[in-house]
Amino acid sequence: MFFGISICYLKIREMKIGFIGLGKMGENMVLNLASKGHKLVVSNRSPEPIKKLSKKNVTAVYELKDMCSKLGGNKIIFIMVPEGKPVDSVLSVLKSDLSKGDIVVDGGNSYYEDSIRRYGELRKLGVSFMDLGVSGGLEGARHGASLMIGGDKSAFKKVEPIFRDLAEKDGYAYLGKSGAGHFVKIIHNGIEYGILEAYAEGFEVLDKSNYDLDYEAVSRVWKNGSVIRSWLIELAEKAFKKTDRLRKVPGVVGGGKTGMWAAKIAKKEGVEFVTLKHALSRRRESKKKQSFGTKFIATMRNMFGGHMIEKG
Ligand SMILES: NC(=O)c1ccc[n+]([C@@H]2O[C@H](COP(=O)([O-])OP(=O)(O)OC[C@H]3O[C@@H](n4cnc5c(N)ncnc54)[C@H](OP(=O)(O)O)[C@@H]3O)[C@@H](O)[C@H]2O)c1
Repeated sequence: MFFGISICYLKIREMKIGFIGLGKMGENMVLNLASKGHKLVVSNRSPEPIKKLSKKNVTAVYELKDMCSKLGGNKIIFIMVPEGKPVDSVLSVLKSDLSKGDIVVDGGNSYYEDSIRRYGELRKLGVSFMDLGVSGGLEGARHGASLMIGGDKSAFKKVEPIFRDLAEKDGYAYLGKSGAGHFVKIIHNGIEYGILEAYAEGFEVLDKSNYDLDYEAVSRVWKNGSVIRSWLIELAEKAFKKTDRLRKVPGVVGGGKTGMWAAKIAKKEGVEFVTLKHALSRRRESKKKQSFGTKFIATMRNMFGGHMIEKG
């Protein structure tokens, strides 16, 4: 068994992986895989990231056609672009160069029903479409992410050595048929909204109190040994070290799409998901009224995902 796994592992390292979308996440995922010895052929809509990555240990090309011809048969191609039209437009260009046995993996935050539709469309060509939920922000993308995977089990088995190298130890799982990966990622994001909101409101109470508290110290003790320790608290400690009590941070919280999808799914399943609903309404309100809590969330989103801090 061990021998079988090793041969599969060697084979996957001999083949080239296609990668489309060299933004904040894509670039880091490419560098992560390249550092583990994978050969990659990468491409991007605009030229700058292609130029940048061609200086690293990867083959970077301007045309998707070129990418496909360099990959040969039984291609494995990752896509890391925004959900919706960008994914469809990449697929529509890619389609003419795909053939039976190829595997396409969408690692963006796509709506799971879109992924099921794309799975059906590509299946007609004999191509297996996989939906991959990626968590862990830019740090995870570069050094080991959490991967939620849906699609054909047979395709998963073929791509598994790549998923293993992309993920943190024990940080990937095949979760089921088409849509399962993106479905679980949407709910993950719904939980993330609630957790962020709870931390934000806790710090807001501390900030309103009469105590002259050092939030870096509070985060440090919460980070070490407490019941509420987490990566977010680690990031909070760094944030409070860098910025003087977030005073100069604008407190408008962006994003919200995956959270709204999670709320819609919860409603359909008859679950109230009150924490998420509340977090969504506070995010909406932040466009008009900012607080210490909304500054905290905007800062955290910037730290883990590189999301821009919007001005009020
Ligand atoms: N940031 C995070 O923490 C995080 C975590 C998990 C998942 N995700 C998901 O991962 C995906 C990428 O996120 P990101 O943070 O890397 O975003 P990003 O930095 O904005 O990069 C987006 C990438 O998609 C490309 N792109 C945009 N529109 C396109 C189109 N119409 N056709 C072709 N390519 C297009 C961009 O190309 P150009 O260079 O030409 O603009 C860029 O390479 C998104 O689905 C996001 O939701 C993000």
